[in-house]
Parts: sequence; structure tokens; C-alpha cells
Amino acid sequence: MLLSRFFGVKPRTKLIAISFAGLIALNPSAQAEEVNVYSYRKPQLIQPMFDEFTAETGIKVNAVFAKKGMLERLKSEGQNSPADIVFTTDIGRLTDFKNAGLTQPVESDLIKANIPSHLRDPENHWFGLTSRARIIVASNDRVAEGELGSYEDLADPKWQGRICSRSGKHPYNIALISMMMAHHGNEATEKWLGGVKFNLARKPEGNDRGQVKAIREGLCDVAVINHYYMYQMASDPEQKAWADAVQVIFPNQNDRGTHMNISGMAMTRYAPHADSARRLIEFLAGDKAQAMYAEVNGEYPVNENIPLSDYLQSLGSFQRDEVDLSHVATFRAEASKMVDRVAYND
Ligand SMILES: [Fe+2]
Repeated sequence: MLLSRFFGVKPRTKLIAISFAGLIALNPSAQAEEVNVYSYRKPQLIQPMFDEFTAETGIKVNAVFAKKGMLERLKSEGQNSPADIVFTTDIGRLTDFKNAGLTQPVESDLIKANIPSHLRDPENHWFGLTSRARIIVASNDRVAEGELGSYEDLADPKWQGRICSRSGKHPYNIALISMMMAHHGNEATEKWLGGVKFNLARKPEGNDRGQVKAIREGLCDVAVINHYYMYQMASDPEQKAWADAVQVIFPNQNDRGTHMNISGMAMTRYAPHADSARRLIEFLAGDKAQAMYAEVNGEYPVNENIPLSDYLQSLGSFQRDEVDLSHVATFRAEASKMVDRVAYND
């Protein structure tokens, strides 16, 4: 049938870089023992867990990977959508799905036991799957150990002309600014963000790894990135030198802890295979999948029972900010306006 024909392409061996707008209509009333997934996450990150789930349960997982357009696609498919679960990164994207009415709650004691409450929706519409620390990296040569310890420090005039940043509008930075708003309020956060902007070495550009490259090249001394990029760069022959040029700083160890974002999952509002979908979500929150996931991408398991991978252990233990991410997400729209007001990207 259309469904199996479409999903029949093996995402494990072939990255399907399609746009959702290009999909044909799929039949949502297909057989019971399967679950359909729409994912922004790369196949190599989640396919191994899907394979394990299928081996354990006999439930087939049909995954479609895409880079954008998932929310629009779900909206336009409406009740006819074949999707049961969506996977994405960032608290912002997860809350966007919920706020658009595209998700449904999943009640499960197993999920509640495995995922800490600050990393899931209070109404059980979305769940964290992995967590990532937004760390500060600083030049080994030009920044002394202990010279910089918090996100707040980034606004100190001593860093004038020494900070590199990606766009202030990127979801990772919007979440970071929202976190600051949750802790300090709007006024103090705007003052802080203006201070960081003042300290930028160049107009915001590039991705997280691009900032580390810039430090290596001497364009700036400090940047904020997600921790797993250090892992990725270290295993890339060209980028290893970038990673080697910087030290990792877990910010705010003397107070609330380091800002954590998540990758996560949600069941769609009209999931045609809701029972299988719930089982997959429970499986992914469980010990086996959590250990696998943490290993493959260098991310932190949300399930706190899981021993950390060698790489994560090498980064050392640190205090994490446990502010409720659903609360942080409520500041996103205002954070975006703040980026404009301080002309962060100009
Ligand atoms: Fe990322």
C-alpha cells in the first residue's frame, strides 16, 4: 500500500532529505502493529533505537526524516495524517507543536518515572529524550582558567570584541535568553543581552562549530555552544584542531547550574497507532534506549539511572539548571523581540 511503499525506503542506509511538502497522501488506517514517525533528528541518531524496539516488540517503525516543514505538514494533513510521533530538538519546537494543537497527552507512569518533571510537559504532551548543555568555550591560549564562570559574565566589558556568536534568533540562543528571563526578568536580561552584543567580535554568523573555528583562528576568544559539538569535532579530522583550541566551561556552577535544552518527542493529536506509539515513547525513555542514545550522539540521557558514556564522563560532572523547561519556553516570543531591540544580529 501507499504507506508501506513510501516508508519502505530504508532510512538507515539512505538519508532521506525530502521536504514534507513533497509527500504523497498516506493512508492513516493501515495495519496496527506499526508506528509512523516524523523526525527532524538524523536517521543515524535514532534508527538504532527503532531497530531495537522492533526486535523487542515486533512493532515496525516507519520513519520519515526531514529538515523542515514538519509542523506545516502536520497542520495540512490534519486528521488524515499518518504520523504517530514527532521527534525534534529544542524546547521551542516541541512547544510549537503543542501550541498549534498538533499533539495529544500520553499518560504513563513509566514515562513519569524515567523522565524528570522539568524535562517534560506538565500536561504530558511532549517528553525530553536527551539533554544537552549549552556550554561556554574559551581559548586555551588567551583565556585563563577560571576567568569566566557564568552566562552573566559574558556581558562584562572585559570581553569587549572577544565573543563570537551564531544568530541570536537561533532556537538554541532563544532558549538561552528565555532561561535568563526566567531567572532574572525582562529588564535585567535585556541589559545583559545588550552587554553581550556590545562584546561581540563580529556580526553573528555560522553555526555552533563555526564559532569554535573562529576562536581557533584568533577572531575571538569566547563562544557559547552545545556540548555535543565538542564530541563531534573531536572525532572529525579537520575539526579536531578547533576543539583542541578551546577549554570547556560549564557555566554557573556556583549558583543555579548550566542551561540544558532537550531533544524530545510528542504523540500527534490524531495518531492512528496510538497504542504502539505510547509503547515506543516508553521504550525510548527506558534504560536500554537511553543508554544507546547517549552513546551515539554524546548527549546526556534524560533518564538519570543511566551510566554516562566514556565521553560524557571525560567532561566531568556538573550542576545542571533544573528550571522547568515548559516555563522557560513561555519567554520565547519576548526573547525574540529582545534580540531585535538590542540589534543583536546587526
Ligand atoms: Fe545541534
